[in-house]
Amino acid sequence: MAFASPPLSAALRRPPSVLSSAACRRRAAAAADAPANAFWSAIARKFHWETPWPADAPAVAWNFDPTAGPVYAHWWKGGRTNICYNALDVHVAAGRGADVALLFEPNEPADGRARSLTYAELLEEVTAAAAALTAAGVRRGDGVVTYMPMGVELPVVMLAAARIGAVHSVVFGGFSAAALAARLAASGAEVLVTTDGVGRGGKWVGLKAAADEAIALAAADYGHTVVTQLVVRNRSAADGRGGGAEEGAAVPMVAGRDVWWDDALAAAPRAGGEVVWVDAEDPLFCLFTSGSTGAPKGVVHTVGGYMVGAATTFKYSFNYMPGDVYFCTADAGWITGHTYVTYGPLLNGATQVVFEGVPTYPDAGRLWEIVAKYRVNILYTAPTALRSLKRAGDAFVAAHDTSSLKVLGTVGEPINPEAWDWYYSVVGASAATVVDSYWQTETGAHVLAPIPVAGLDLKPGCAQLPHLGIVPVLLDDAGGLVEGEGEGYLAISRPWPSALRTLLGDHERMEATYFARFPGFYLTGDGARRDADGHLWLTGRIDDVLNVSGHRLGTAEVEAAIVGVPGVAEAAVVGVPHPVTGEALYAYVVLMPGVEGNDALRAAITAGLRARIGPIARVETLHWVGGRGLPKTRSGKILRRLLRLIAMGGGGGDLGDTSTLADPSVLDELLQTS
Ligand code: WT7
Repeated sequence: MAFASPPLSAALRRPPSVLSSAACRRRAAAAADAPANAFWSAIARKFHWETPWPADAPAVAWNFDPTAGPVYAHWWKGGRTNICYNALDVHVAAGRGADVALLFEPNEPADGRARSLTYAELLEEVTAAAAALTAAGVRRGDGVVTYMPMGVELPVVMLAAARIGAVHSVVFGGFSAAALAARLAASGAEVLVTTDGVGRGGKWVGLKAAADEAIALAAADYGHTVVTQLVVRNRSAADGRGGGAEEGAAVPMVAGRDVWWDDALAAAPRAGGEVVWVDAEDPLFCLFTSGSTGAPKGVVHTVGGYMVGAATTFKYSFNYMPGDVYFCTADAGWITGHTYVTYGPLLNGATQVVFEGVPTYPDAGRLWEIVAKYRVNILYTAPTALRSLKRAGDAFVAAHDTSSLKVLGTVGEPINPEAWDWYYSVVGASAATVVDSYWQTETGAHVLAPIPVAGLDLKPGCAQLPHLGIVPVLLDDAGGLVEGEGEGYLAISRPWPSALRTLLGDHERMEATYFARFPGFYLTGDGARRDADGHLWLTGRIDDVLNVSGHRLGTAEVEAAIVGVPGVAEAAVVGVPHPVTGEALYAYVVLMPGVEGNDALRAAITAGLRARIGPIARVETLHWVGGRGLPKTRSGKILRRLLRLIAMGGGGGDLGDTSTLADPSVLDELLQTS
């Protein structure tokens, strides 16, 4: 039942060879690390450590050069702590138990489910939840998968898992049963926590049925058994309010496997909820995200470094001050909800709004209504939400008092200057600071952000400055440093506490993906430009990762889902600019001989994508490709640059260098059919 940790520990346990040049390089690096060690350790000491890390050990030991040995970064290894204890118990013990931790705002504005939890109450719930997980057999190092909507219970389960040293893997509630099955199997988790369903906008979305299907698929396709399924009862169902036709329908429970959450909590012996002290380098969670190729990657973060990174970036990026009310619209199914809902704010003892619904329900004034209701000071949301709310019109903002706002955060994709201006001048009435935060699932916490201090001139659309302790570099094709003004691959040259440690079960893939191309550097996968002031502007992904509404999708997984539809021979997907979602999917589909590209096939492809991935994988444009097929090189590589140009209207007739094409006539055919 152990969470598959061997690749991590095996890579890290290998002893350094004392005489190698790698060891010499490492010794020189250690000297260069001294200021960072001192800086980060001073911050780390502000947390509770049950056992301090060895006094003579540096804060960090690391290697980013796969040619010199396994890639790793350890922070405060040997120290024992617990992130849940630091997020909850510490505040209660310091007399802040009556402070409000969570303000829950339900999908339906007035269905009576709004509630607030103090730190003492949240600790109570998390302790009971931890006891229930223990009673279900979960132990230190074991995986726990959640498939839940955003609400109070999701952070509760995450914190409960962390409390007993278990490793959570949150699967976004919008993913399909097939996607959940793959993640269940990869995580090795025998316990799944789900929910009967949730009201989202005007609809009721049932989750238990998909979870049941996923458990069956995990058994059939991967031979993986989920032993216990804990089911949170969403109160809107119990009350019969706020949903559609399916709501209130009986949820079938499988005897011996399925247990209602409340019953599990009530039955568990409380002693099972006690804190389990873990090593700083124990895994805290695994979150699956899309890469440019292959199956989604399980990004593994560890306890100590992630704790320090999440807490520090939350505090400084948002200029958080005690008493501030914070509201992040992200779902904890994504990294933003992990770091900036579950962990960062609670580690700081902050008060935050947790929102179950969507920004446009009942109308496009919902976020502003919430801001006014709770006097929110710090808002953190995504450019795609801002663009759709801007379209709805300024009157929705004007109808509510948003004057409490002082910091306006944005994340997920480059923010276009129009959306930035609207956020700044309309939402913030030109009196709040816009913080464009650039980071990734892999970085765990903010990497670039204009930390809102006096004297920094903000630039719309620019993530601007490296965060504390981050050393970003721009590299050219040959791996040379781009100094001064210029453009290049954005990489990071030194370790930072919240960096990913490995990819679940595949440390080699981690080295190959992020470190092999430019040994010695963590490669982000994004391009960036440095301006004359030294500020950094993101220019987009340099790989085949797509970003739709701030959500990552890999071309390979989308293509695999399309090719799985009968009648489809081949598919190639590219991203094209979209006014609301940032990027939209444009799919080239090559049909089997005799198959016709019609509405029925289009519907089958849409259904196939929903089933394999989920509703977020929506193709905006389908391009049926004729007999000549896709533009490929002689070695069979698809020329995506050309597909992108054609999708965007043909590049004004200039497709650039097409000399590597095996058959240049495919282009004429594609241009004619576009
Ligand atoms: C990718 C990471 C990290 C939170 C949500 C997404 C893009 C993210 C920005 C920004 C320009 C951004 C990058 C990055 N991205 N924030 N402020 N400006 N691009 O996490 O799913 O891991 O995606 O999102 O391309 O690599 P993720």
